[in-house]
Amino acid sequence: MHQNKLKTKREQDEKVNGGKKGLVLGVANEHSIAWAISKRLAEEGAEIAFNYQNEKTASHVIPLFQSIDSPFYERMDLTDPNQVTEVLEKLKQQFNGELDFIVHAVAGGPHKGELSGKYMEVSLDGFVQSMVISVYSLTDIVKRTFKMMEGRNASILTLSYYGSEKVVKNYNVMGVAKAALESSVRYLAADLGEFSIRVNALSPGTVKTRAASGIGGFDSLYEYTSQHSPLKHNASLEEIANSSLFLLSNLSSGITGQTIYVDAGYSIIGNTHE
Ligand SMILES: NC(=O)c1ccc[n+]([C@@H]2O[C@H](COP(=O)([O-])OP(=O)(O)OC[C@H]3O[C@@H](n4cnc5c(N)ncnc54)[C@H](O)[C@@H]3O)[C@@H](O)[C@H]2O)c1
Repeated sequence: MHQNKLKTKREQDEKVNGGKKGLVLGVANEHSIAWAISKRLAEEGAEIAFNYQNEKTASHVIPLFQSIDSPFYERMDLTDPNQVTEVLEKLKQQFNGELDFIVHAVAGGPHKGELSGKYMEVSLDGFVQSMVISVYSLTDIVKRTFKMMEGRNASILTLSYYGSEKVVKNYNVMGVAKAALESSVRYLAADLGEFSIRVNALSPGTVKTRAASGIGGFDSLYEYTSQHSPLKHNASLEEIANSSLFLLSNLSSGITGQTIYVDAGYSIIGNTHE
C-alpha cells in the first residue's frame, strides 16, 4: 500500500504539472480558452481553483469545474475589490497559503459598438473599463497573491492578441489594452523575478469564443487567418492548451516577461501579394 502510494506520487511528479496548485480566471463556458487550458492542466495532475464572473455563468461553469474535481470555485467579479479580497482569503485557506500558477484569461470593457468602426470613436468609459478589466485585473491579482507563490518557481500566464502590435480591423480599444497588458507582463516579470515567479503572455490566433463574438466581422477574420497563416489553420484549443502547459510548467523555467505566439505562424506574415 505504502509502495503503491509512493509510486503514484512519483508518477504524479513526473507529469509536467503534477501536484501543482493553481488559480484559473476566465472560464465562461466549455468554449473558453481558459477551460481548454484547465482540462490540459488537470490531465497533468494539477489542482485547480476557479472564479466565475456572475450568477448567470454559474450554471454553465460549475458542472465543468466539478468534472475535473476542482476543490474551489467562487463567484468573483474582478472589478469588485471587496469580492476579490474575500475570495482570495478563502483561496489562501483552501491551498494552505501556497500557489504555483495563475491563468488570467479575462477580457472586457468596450461598450456596444466600440469593437467595430473607427478606434477613435471609443468613449472615455469604454477605454477606462477596457484597461481596468483586461489589464489592471492581472496586476491586481498578482499583487494580492504573489506571497503565496514566493520561492515556488511559480508561473503566471495571461492571454494576449496580435492586435496589440498591428492594426487588426475592429479590434480597436482591445488592441490598445493588449499592448498595455503585454507591457504589464514585462514590468511584472521584472518585479517578481527575485521571488522565483515568472510572468508571460500567450498570444493565440483567432478562436471562436464568446469574447470573440463581440468583435465586428470576427467570422471573416477567422477565415482569413486560417487561409493566410503558414500552417493553413487557426491554432486549435488543444494547441493553445499545450503551449500554456509548457509556459506554466518548469519546462519553461528560463522564460519570463515574454509574449509568445501560438497562431500557426500568422503573425510572421507581412505582405505576400504575387
Ligand atoms: N478568442 C480569441 O480569438 C482570442 C485570441 C487571442 C486572445 N484571446 C484572449 O483570451 C482570453 C480569454 O477569452 P476567450 O476568447 O476564451 O473568451 P471567453 O468569453 O470565454 O472568456 C473571457 C472571460 O473574461 C471574463 N470576464 C470579463 N469581465 C470580467 C470581470 N469583470 N470579472 C471577471 N471575469 C471577467 C468572462 O467572464 C469570461 O470568462 C481573453 O483575454 C481574450 O482577449 C482570445
